[in-house]
Amino acid sequence: MRAQIDKRRFGPWAVITGASSGIGKEFARQISASGVHVALVARRELLLRTVGAECTQASGVQHRVIPLDLSEPDFLPVNATRDLDVGLVVSNAGTGNPGRFLDKGREELMELLRLNTGAHLDIARHFGERLVRRGSGGLLFVGAMGADKGIPFMANEAGAKAYVRSHPCRSMTSSSLTEST
Ligand SMILES: NC(=O)c1ccc[n+]([C@@H]2O[C@H](COP(=O)([O-])OP(=O)(O)OC[C@H]3O[C@@H](n4cnc5c(N)ncnc54)[C@H](OP(=O)(O)O)[C@@H]3O)[C@@H](O)[C@H]2O)c1
Repeated sequence: MRAQIDKRRFGPWAVITGASSGIGKEFARQISASGVHVALVARRELLLRTVGAECTQASGVQHRVIPLDLSEPDFLPVNATRDLDVGLVVSNAGTGNPGRFLDKGREELMELLRLNTGAHLDIARHFGERLVRRGSGGLLFVGAMGADKGIPFMANEAGAKAYVRSHPCRSMTSSSLTEST
């Protein structure tokens, strides 16, 4: 399936987190195929470069690689995107590591919690303000169906993903942002 993005509304630039593999990489491919330039965020810089080069080669768009660990506190692609006119943000970075809750270290659990909650919160605040100011655009947050009921051996992951489902950005996108677009 191919998604067609309206580049006048959601361009000229899109920021995609977790773009080095999986679903985020496919977001990058399909968004760039609509003629929107892509800023790609994840930790593995080499993979991001490969995805970016593919997008540019296939669709002629510009790309920017932003290597970041979004589980670190206060880590956001703010400076790296300040000069870009961003019309679309896909907050997709996330990870799951099944296993017994009590076998995991606190820091590992906290990192996942920060990635699945704090990073979305900071992205919603920072880019939400920018999009409202420019009067158009979109924010997309990738959740997980397991957040509804919990998942055996992924208690922390499912609980953290529930944050996306009831996040304040949902009311923000349905009120201030969409009203101004
Ligand atoms: N696939 C599924 O069945 C499924 C089901 C439910 C929900 N989801 C959600 O869908 C999203 C994408 O998952 P996926 O299946 O495509 O997984 P994936 O292939 O493992 O991709 C995860 C992406 O997130 C990035 N990432 C992970 N930790 C990061 C960190 N600390 N800082 C910055 N980037 C980070 C990874 O890049 P680096 O490793 O390079 O940093 C990678 O690009 C996630 O939010 C996941 O929870 C997926």
